[in-house]
Amino acid sequence: MTKKCTSTPKTPAPWVYSEKVKEHFLNPQNFLMGDEKKFKCDAKGIIGNPICGDQMLMMLKIDKKTDTITDVKWKTYGCASAIASTSALSELAKGKTLDEALKIDAKQIADYLGGLPKHKFHCSVLGHDALKAAIENYREKH
Ligand code: FES
Repeated sequence: MTKKCTSTPKTPAPWVYSEKVKEHFLNPQNFLMGDEKKFKCDAKGIIGNPICGDQMLMMLKIDKKTDTITDVKWKTYGCASAIASTSALSELAKGKTLDEALKIDAKQIADYLGGLPKHKFHCSVLGHDALKAAIENYREKH
């Protein structure tokens, strides 16, 4: 027997994110669509968030002569904040050298997005850790 849902709120919960977060959440940049094997990357990082259990895959194309990130693709089983944060991170990281990309921090990502609620700050770390893992993966191979 199926039970009817009776917990519909009378008023919707307020949107606690900035317009920029909404923009990146609804239209994530550099999101990996479809089969990851079709994106010929030079480095790959996969990270899980111990706080919530969400996961992130980050793939990079790197110019080997200059150590510059030429393309970024990512995919996540994560929340709105993780999606928007990683979308922002992917924009910030493109065109940077590996050392420059490693210096992008959670505060920079939050600032780029016009702020994040304090309790969602950890979500921006997920993409950054996956980026770090991808760079480590690249450096182990080269
Ligand atoms: S709640 Fe898991 S990354 Fe945001």
